[in-house]
This record gives sequence, structure tokens and C-alpha cells, in this order.
Amino acid sequence: MSKTVSFITENYNKYDPHSIDEYLTVNGYSGLINALNSTPKEVIEIAKASQILGRGGAAYPLGKKWEQAAAVKGDSKVVICNADEGEPSTFKDRSMLEHDPFRIIEGMTIAGYAVGAQSGYIYIREEYRHLQPRMKNAIHQAKVKGYLGDNILGTDFSFDIHVYTGVGAYVCGEGSALIESIEGKSGRPRIKPPYIKESGLHALPTCVNNVESLALGTALLTHGPEKYLSYGTPECPGTKLISIAGNVNKPGVYEIPFGLTLSEIIYNIAGGVKDDKDIRLIQVGGASGKICPPSLIDTPFTYNDLEAVDMMVGSGAVLVIDEDMSLLRFLKITQEFFSHESCGKCTPCREGNRQISHILDRMLAKTHTQADMKILKRFATIMSRASFCGLGETAQNALLNAIKYFPEEFAVKEEPA
Ligand SMILES: Cc1cc2nc3c(=O)[nH]c(=O)nc-3n(C[C@H](O)[C@H](O)[C@H](O)COP(=O)(O)O)c2cc1C
Ligand code: SF4
Repeated sequence: MSKTVSFITENYNKYDPHSIDEYLTVNGYSGLINALNSTPKEVIEIAKASQILGRGGAAYPLGKKWEQAAAVKGDSKVVICNADEGEPSTFKDRSMLEHDPFRIIEGMTIAGYAVGAQSGYIYIREEYRHLQPRMKNAIHQAKVKGYLGDNILGTDFSFDIHVYTGVGAYVCGEGSALIESIEGKSGRPRIKPPYIKESGLHALPTCVNNVESLALGTALLTHGPEKYLSYGTPECPGTKLISIAGNVNKPGVYEIPFGLTLSEIIYNIAGGVKDDKDIRLIQVGGASGKICPPSLIDTPFTYNDLEAVDMMVGSGAVLVIDEDMSLLRFLKITQEFFSHESCGKCTPCREGNRQISHILDRMLAKTHTQADMKILKRFATIMSRASFCGLGETAQNALLNAIKYFPEEFAVKEEPA
């Protein structure tokens, strides 16, 4: 029995994503029309009423972000759609780019209207280069029909969108590194302040939103916040686009109401674990997400319930690892990713990742010592507190939860002679 819903995925497979005429037959652009018939402040109030938290991983409230962006003074502002999606096991935004490109373009235009921006940029990860023509075609058709460009639908609101691509660095998903990359520089995070909402792309006030957040903006303006709020739980209303990966029978992207348990997600939606094996661990939120043992499988997928067991929603990825994989091997693979992706700008992340990688090697070879275990925990904690950006801050999330939930794996049986 499936427990999925169709709120922002309502158009999936219902129209040809290459045709704006078909998009219009599925209620396309009624969200923008509703927005243009309202004041920017009213649009922001709708976003605030929805209680939506940004879907890029940091869970910053959407309405608050738009309100703050609108409040910044500036004749020229920018909206960026973050389609970098470099988080391993996260591929939900790709499905939106593939199935409903016009919804994203419409959401960016609504965001532009709400915050007072004239320019929009979609930053698509290198690996999604094949989706660029689809987005460019959607932009072109929207312009031809008057939904983008000068004086949209006869109003005095003008907005244009450009497409950019990264070259495959995970850190370029971080807002300020992404902006550096668009500006043609090496993609490394900027010192803050100034915050990008005040001085972002080309020093203009900039509002960065995730693909799913912007797609939600379209749905909110189309259907009203009440419909969104009718899903989920009272504490955590709404829906979430999740990507399920790993050792499950039906990996893929699904839209769920908040409140399903991890067990329902894995067994009812993803078809259970392959070959009926036992689960070793579950990771929620991508490689920078936290891990838990199968004993927590009845935890509801909501921000508050996951947080209560020291887990997080993050990007919305659910990775299931079965009994065939050892915890240490899993941690080492995760570590290799972060060691590779650390941009090297700050010492805690650059050196911390390197040292932790060496210790994990010793653990795999069973030559680790008590001192190693102390350093491991200390470095992981320092990284999470002292790193310059979110990459270093979250790189050891899985390790820290492994120490907490699987302490037996870190026991040192005997010191080597
Ligand atoms: C290392 C790193 C990678 C990130 N990658 C992404 C990404 O691929 N997509 C994304 O939307 N946000 C990513 N973020 C979060 C963004 O910095 C930012 O919070 C987000 O795009 C804001 O959109 P939202 O408010 O709609 O969530 C990343 C952050 C960090 C620190
Ligand atoms: S935390 Fe890592 S990725 Fe971020 S600035 Fe420091 S070295 Fe670069």
C-alpha cells in the first residue's frame, strides 16, 4: 500500500515538459497570475502561512527568507535557484527538473516578484548538464508567451532567467560558493558578513532557494497554503520530496506527507530491503546527514521527531544500508567523499578530514588505539564547531552518530604491542 501524495508532483507525467502549451493545460502559470494579482507582501504572507522550511538542507523558513530579501534596499536584486544537488543519495531536485521544469521557472518568477528581483539564475550541477536544454527551452517558451521578460503579462514587473552550470564541486551548493562560481571564480565559500541577502551575486542583494522550495512556491500560489497545510502532522504540516537509495527494492523519488515513519517509507514505499536482509543503518539527509540503527525505524519523518533522536531531515534523502556492509566501511566511504570535496580553505575541515580518514584506515586494519579513538571524537567535534562552512560542520555527522549509536564498533579490544 503506497502512502505517497501528489502536491508538488501533481504534474509528473501529466504534460510534455518541453511544451508550455501543455503546461498551461495543467493549470500552469495560475500561481504566477495569482501572485501578480496580489501585492508582493501578500505573496510573502502566503509563504509564511505555509510554515515551509527551505528544502536545501538548512531548513530556513521560506516566508522569512523572502521577507528579509524584500526588506533589503536595492534597485536591482537577484533570485538564484540552487539546482546543484551534490549531496550523495539526493536526487529529488533532478526529478523536478526532468518532470516539471516550468513549475521551477514559475516559482522563480513568483520569488522574484515577492522579493523585488529582476534577474534569476538557475545553477545546475555539471552532472545534470543534459537537463540544461530542457530548462533553456522552458525559459525561451515562457518569454515568448509573456511569462518572463519585460512587463510580464502586461504588468510593470520584469524578470529574466539565466542558466549556469558548475563543474562538479559539492561545496558549490553552498550559497556563497555557488555565487563565486557563477562569477567565474573558484567555488569557495565567502566570509560572512556581508550576507548574500545584502551583497551576493555581483554584490547585489541575492535570495538563494532550493529547487523544491521554489516548486513549492508555485504550488502555494496556485492552491493556497491551506491545501499544503492539510498534509502531514499538526506540528509538521506539508509534504516532502524524498529520494530513497541503497539496498531497497524500489529506490526512487517519492512525495510523502510528513509524519510517515522510516519503516513505512522503507517497507511500504520503497518495497522493503533487497533479499529481505536486515538493516545495518539508515542515513537521512544525504552524506552530511545523520545515521541511526534499525531500532529507530518507527521514528516519524518530521523535523521535530527526527531531531528528538538526533537525526535530521536535511535534503530529504533516505539511504538504507543492509547487513552486508560494515559500519566502518560505510564511514570510510563517506569520509572519502568529504576528504575529496573539502575545498581546503579552512584548517578544521582540511586537516580534520585527513586525520579522521587515517584513523578510519587504522580501525579497518584493527590497529587503532585508545588514543586514536579520543582524537577521532575530538576532531569530529571540533570540525562540527569550528569549520568555516556547512561542509566541514556536517562532514562528521554520520561518524558522531555512529559513536553514539554503535559504541561497540569503536571499542579498542587490546592495545597493539
Ligand atoms: C556544502 C554545502 C552544499 C550544499 N548543497 C546544496 C544543494 O546542492 N542544493 C541546495 O539547495 N542547497 C544546498 N546547500 C544549502 C544552501 O547553502 C542554501 O542553504 C540553500 O540553497 C537555500 O535554499 P532553501 O532556503 O530553499 O533551502 C548546501 C550547503 C552546503 C554547506
Ligand atoms: S569547511 Fe571545508 S569546504 Fe568549507 S571552507 Fe572550510 S575547507 Fe572549505
